[in-house]
Amino acid sequence: MAQHRETLIAGNWKMNGSPESSSALAKAVADGHVTPGPKVLVCPPSPLLSLVLDAVKESSISVGAQTCHSAVSGAHTGDVSAEMVAALGCSHVIVGHSERRQDHGETDALVADQAAAAHRAGLIAIICVGETEAEREAGQTNAVIAKQVTGSLPASAAAENTVIAYEPVWAIGTGKTPTAEDANDVHAEIRRILTTSVSKDFAETVQILYGGSMKPANAAELLAQPDIDGGLIGGASLKAEDFLAIAAAATG
Ligand code: PGA
Repeated sequence: MAQHRETLIAGNWKMNGSPESSSALAKAVADGHVTPGPKVLVCPPSPLLSLVLDAVKESSISVGAQTCHSAVSGAHTGDVSAEMVAALGCSHVIVGHSERRQDHGETDALVADQAAAAHRAGLIAIICVGETEAEREAGQTNAVIAKQVTGSLPASAAAENTVIAYEPVWAIGTGKTPTAEDANDVHAEIRRILTTSVSKDFAETVQILYGGSMKPANAAELLAQPDIDGGLIGGASLKAEDFLAIAAAATG
């Protein structure tokens, strides 16, 4: 991985875990993480954020939320604001995950508003993009990514407050992954898009994570790619041993 960009290994726990299991998982990650190593982040479901923050408080592990609303507060039943997430002690929030785009009809414009809210609250926004299998087969990957990246990035985006996660939809939870070179090609394409749409400096310094069936067996190869700066890990982040093995692969 590129020397000038820090590596981030982020666990997206999705809608999984009980208070007991989440606390135990967070503690196991905190106890097992070897420093110095990559920056490690876990993103539990919102009701478990406080518990997880408490479980990792003496460690180097950071905690993030899985989404946020664009408003500070108000009549938005079921939502959480970026300010609430920040006030708890979180550092990051994932926005625009493909499951939210699918389940909740989130659009690029909405994702950009959510990322702007994250920035307003002092959080780092992890903005997710990725093509479907049909789009890839139709040769539309770069066009889809260009539309999502430019549409989901708010004007407030800077390399210090923004991470991009490239997650091909067809690789999420399926056990299928692009080859490390194919994944890196899309990361490089994202940097080309950002050079034009934002700036060369932003394109070169922003962290771009790969997500989609990353596991101990494929992590080292993916993370060794020059434009891949870390991983956003779903299934394998629910087992401390696997998640820690991925973090260890990032240092190797
Ligand atoms: P997966 O999920 O690792 O289970 O494929 C990744 C993600 O959706 O962030």
